Amino acid sequence: KKKLLIDVDTGVDDAQAIMMALASPDVEILGITCTHGNTSLDNSCKNTLRVLDICGRMDIPVFRGCEYSMLDEKREASDFHGKDGLGDSPDPNAPGLDKLQKRKAVQAMIKIVKENPGEVTLVATGPLTNVATGMVLDPYFPKKLKELYIMGGNTESRGNTTSCGEFNFVADPEAAYIVFKRVTCPTYIATWEFSCRNSLPWSFCDKWLAQDTDKARFMKKIYKHTQEVIQSAEYEKETVGKPGFNTCDCYTMAAAINPSVVKASEEVPVSVELNGKYTRGMMVLDYIGLLPNKHKVTILKKFDLEIFKDMLMSALK
Ligand code: BDR
Ligand code: CA
Repeated sequence: KKKLLIDVDTGVDDAQAIMMALASPDVEILGITCTHGNTSLDNSCKNTLRVLDICGRMDIPVFRGCEYSMLDEKREASDFHGKDGLGDSPDPNAPGLDKLQKRKAVQAMIKIVKENPGEVTLVATGPLTNVATGMVLDPYFPKKLKELYIMGGNTESRGNTTSCGEFNFVADPEAAYIVFKRVTCPTYIATWEFSCRNSLPWSFCDKWLAQDTDKARFMKKIYKHTQEVIQSAEYEKETVGKPGFNTCDCYTMAAAINPSVVKASEEVPVSVELNGKYTRGMMVLDYIGLLPNKHKVTILKKFDLEIFKDMLMSALK
């Protein structure tokens, strides 16, 4: 089984990605680390625990991570994910923060990777603050990773948070910069435009949510707000092509669990702009080899949507 470590800022699509991993017989989840991002760090932790509880998997350790970006700033995306990060449909019986592990996320990440050298696939679906901090704290941590999957960045200077910046990278550009500077393992990126270009029809989403299971009923409840936002006319501006059912974090997770879902990709060194007045947080692709870091990352281009749909269906079974 593939050993997964998952770093999340649990909003709605992070929840979907976690459920996809939980449903896969091919992976073992060694831990989930939480970061700031879509919502406050407390909410991100609570939402993660709530998802595990719904899936009957409270045995998976959850760790509290960084509350602010490297520059001590915080963004959130409550317009999209709801004020609580999960569509504002609270569950009074959801587990509390006392269910978190005592160890902090960054230390846990380093420990888990140290105990499983060369075996851990790290899937990061939020701002990269925890991952970058781990890389700075322990230079051997990135060297001992098997592979890294990231949801973030953009390839066509198309933003969803700033004019040309994607949320996870804009929420902590320094962290993303550090990760690309230090990473040496195979690294795969599902960018904003990639997920837009591989979106699914809403008729599939209806079928997905209509499954007669507690997981599907839970998802229908927490996804309602986000679905309304995506289907609004205003949202068309953010997306590439016609907006469909687009669950960004699930693309990254699906590729990590089952690499055969990736039908086309390209390899190129990347970095992140830190200084631009308009372009801070934008991903930079270095096709002509001028960046100091020559390590190529794999940018996902095309998905097998039939395999992807099966994986999504299984997540709510
Ligand atoms: C990313 O930002 C967050 O809002 C989503 O959870 C996803 O990780 C998309 O830009
Ligand atoms: Ca996310």
